[in-house]
Amino acid sequence: MLAAVITEKNFENVSKVLKEIKAADLVELRLDYLREIELSKLKNMIKNCNKPVMVTNRKIGEGGFFNGSEEERIQILKKAADFGAGFVDIEYSSDKNSIKGLIKNKKNSKIIVSCHNFEKTPDNLNVIYNKIKTLNPDIIKIVTKASSVKDNFKIFELINAAKKENQKITAFCMGPYGQFSRVLGAILGSHITYASIGKGKESASGQMTINEMTDLYRIKNINKNTKIAGLIGNPVGHSWSHIIHNAGFGEFGINAVYLKFRVDKLKEFVEYSKKLNVVGFSVTIPYKIRIMGYLDEIDEKAKKIGAVNTIAARNGKYVGYNADCDGAMLALKSKTKLKGKNVVLLGAGGSARAIAYGLKEENANVTILNRTARKAKAIADKFKFDYGPLGKLKNADYDILINATSAGMHPEADKSPVEARLIKKGAVFFDIVFNPYKTKLLKDAEKKKCIIIPGTEMLINQAVLQFELWTGRAAPKEAMREKMMDCIKNDCHKN
Ligand SMILES: NC(=O)c1ccc[n+]([C@@H]2O[C@H](COP(=O)([O-])OP(=O)(O)OC[C@H]3O[C@@H](n4cnc5c(N)ncnc54)[C@H](OP(=O)(O)O)[C@@H]3O)[C@@H](O)[C@H]2O)c1
Repeated sequence: MLAAVITEKNFENVSKVLKEIKAADLVELRLDYLREIELSKLKNMIKNCNKPVMVTNRKIGEGGFFNGSEEERIQILKKAADFGAGFVDIEYSSDKNSIKGLIKNKKNSKIIVSCHNFEKTPDNLNVIYNKIKTLNPDIIKIVTKASSVKDNFKIFELINAAKKENQKITAFCMGPYGQFSRVLGAILGSHITYASIGKGKESASGQMTINEMTDLYRIKNINKNTKIAGLIGNPVGHSWSHIIHNAGFGEFGINAVYLKFRVDKLKEFVEYSKKLNVVGFSVTIPYKIRIMGYLDEIDEKAKKIGAVNTIAARNGKYVGYNADCDGAMLALKSKTKLKGKNVVLLGAGGSARAIAYGLKEENANVTILNRTARKAKAIADKFKFDYGPLGKLKNADYDILINATSAGMHPEADKSPVEARLIKKGAVFFDIVFNPYKTKLLKDAEKKKCIIIPGTEMLINQAVLQFELWTGRAAPKEAMREKMMDCIKNDCHKN
């Protein structure tokens, strides 16, 4: 179930926002955010709301703001049950007799006994779960802070254990490492997932908005059979792949969701992911090379490139591919010929390696320049190209310049890997950085009447190839592009 969390400061605003909440299954009213808790208004709100109301009066120390006495706090929760609240949330850290009293006199309300850890995800979650269970609540809620991707696995194991006992549980991790657990937990059986009514209205770190949950992740359609795809990287915040791929799945009504996995422990993530219903992953910074050590098979082209940016799950095995290469070549060839052209390729990371391979196949003359020149040499030697440090650009003549470094990427959008005076009039400039849409490098190149190719072209091309590897179907490229362009228009890259 999807709960819209209301964190307004007075009941007038609560009434206003209630009218706008359409997609949620229930609303959580956070009484502790209100300047004044007027019981008559609470009663009316519960009575008149067209969705079940979950009443929460969070105390300080469990992420809340209620500053009255504990007796008063519990009394208000009891009143909420009397008024017919659909759910009442009480913290496990409350007096145990108060919790028992609330459960005994709950009338038609469902009682959630909750426990929050804002510091970490302890190993012994089952101990706290079993303690809460002895109180016999309708729903156990356990929420912890993830400091590593591994913390989410502890929460998922807890959900699995509760499911085996038919115990309703709501469990997920807070924080950037735990954001995906808000969707994946729901697929695994977590009972309620919480969403804010808009940006800036969140009640906890990592909480997404109702629109993100419904339009992007299609949370109302997911179920235990929903397949998992996603991006493995660190950081992953800047990526738009979730927008493109979820648009593709949505367009064809495919029961799959694409999540962003911020991964700090790659081996552990890959191993754990095999317990999930995975169709495939995209791989980004900094794992395109390291991931190769954890795959069951690697496609010949990816082997030759020496980097993998796509994993397809095939009968329990992970097969690695490289869609960066073809994605970049298609983007370039839509604007220019490559055979015999002088190309400067900036960068010597995973993407530069894939692009160098493609340029070799297309018979271009390439010079690889990189901040760390020895890394440029390693790739150049392999493909018999020239190489050098970035400073060598001032002596280079080129028809095409490709930026495959991360310089100029959000949030450092005011930076460019190329001084404006070194931009050659009329040349072709391809910046594989896609966030921002038009990088400083491309803006400078446009001023010199160059042909520019934004990184989104490569992004969409490689996403199409990934989609086809995962689903075996031709991708709905235009629907995917449309969602991506909407995101660009709405400045989502600035989030
Ligand atoms: N459009 C797309 O579809 C697409 C696909 C893949 C990647 N990308 C983007 O391409 C960029 C590179 O990705 P990657 O996977 O190749 O990363 P990577 O393997 O980590 O390589 C990063 C490269 O950028 C260089 N670099 C980093 N910061 C720099 C700076 N401030 N000035 C100059 N050079 C700098 C590094 O140089 P050193 O070797 O000296 O560290 C290295 O060559 C990222 O922005 C990524 O988002 C776009």
